[in-house]
Amino acid sequence: MNEIKTALRGEVSGFADDPRMSQTLPAAIYTSQKIFEFEIEKIFAKTWQFIGHKNDFREPGDFVTKEIGRDSVIVLRDREGELRAFHNVCRHRAHRLVSEKRGSLKVVITCPYHSWAYGLDGGLRPNSVKSDVYGFDPSKIALVPVRVEEYGSFVFINLDDDAPTMVEHCKGYDERLRSHFRDIDRPKHHSTMVYDVDCNWKVVMDNGIDAYHLGISGPHHQVFNRMCDFKNGRQIADDVSLALIGGPGDPNNEGYSFAKKPDFWQSENFIDDLLFPAVFFLTFPYTDIIYVFDVIPVSAQTCRIEMLYYCVADELDETSLGAIRYMNEDLGPEDVDLNVGVQQGLNSRAYDAGRFMVDTAAGYDGEQLIHHFYRLWLAAFSDEDRARVLVMD
Ligand code: FES
Ligand SMILES: [Fe+2]
Repeated sequence: MNEIKTALRGEVSGFADDPRMSQTLPAAIYTSQKIFEFEIEKIFAKTWQFIGHKNDFREPGDFVTKEIGRDSVIVLRDREGELRAFHNVCRHRAHRLVSEKRGSLKVVITCPYHSWAYGLDGGLRPNSVKSDVYGFDPSKIALVPVRVEEYGSFVFINLDDDAPTMVEHCKGYDERLRSHFRDIDRPKHHSTMVYDVDCNWKVVMDNGIDAYHLGISGPHHQVFNRMCDFKNGRQIADDVSLALIGGPGDPNNEGYSFAKKPDFWQSENFIDDLLFPAVFFLTFPYTDIIYVFDVIPVSAQTCRIEMLYYCVADELDETSLGAIRYMNEDLGPEDVDLNVGVQQGLNSRAYDAGRFMVDTAAGYDGEQLIHHFYRLWLAAFSDEDRARVLVMD
């Protein structure tokens, strides 16, 4: 537990401000359930969490649900056209209201237990409950609201009523997204690939911005490194986000082949843009897809990855279909195996911390973005928070 205390103070002897001289944070931050619960409270319950694209909510009743730690939230479009979010819990005896991930509600949200019905504005329908219960006024009962905002064409929620707005918090990130994806306002949800992975959520984050492994780790990564040109790419790191961008590489690689057609692509580049804490916005060269890679913490040792594909066209072109196949069948599974292998090793008594691989010039294939992620992670905890962790021990 000692190393956890020092990690949360940002005082791990080997974690240096300069990524070129820095050790990684201790393994305990990826294995401790206490740290996990602390992260849910201090990071996930206080920052804006990805829900979907605004086009997921075209019609009244369209909804998406999301788990944040032990909470579940439902986001929907109401009959007046307002976007609303509620805790997904019945006010009677707490049954979860909606178990599906996405769909469309007709007129009301009906609890599966005793059929209490709530309007899309969250209010309880009095005729759905017993009448004449002493001192009970159904017109005063409503679902508990959650903050919801549309930002950069996407929809986010925040469990913290005091958090800054997305605009205040993100300082222009929406403009960056708009510059990445030329049709950011237009795509529709095409499909979602879900992976339940036996690793801490941060192992996935590390892997998702690890420029070092791209040309090395397994055959599908080596294809990826030919598909994209990272030598002529760039990296971005700021207070809320980090990005890895590569140019187009060989159009005839074995992953998917791309032609530089004028009408069917979001970007000529590979774009991998992470909004802290846990959502990536991506696209691959010349595909007509905006990928959202949403990492959902489940426990210290497990997480869920949802890879959402948003596409403009109803009928996808060959390039986009090939890119989805490559991600679902080749690159995605290869990365999942890497993540599980890392978590197994983090649990070893022989491993404490490693060393970030960043060369002196902090070149294109170094691990400096992972280091930056931990700057943001450490900054998410206040001095008071750290003191609380010491008491928790
Ligand atoms: S728990 Fe929902 S109606 Fe009883
Ligand atoms: Fe990877």
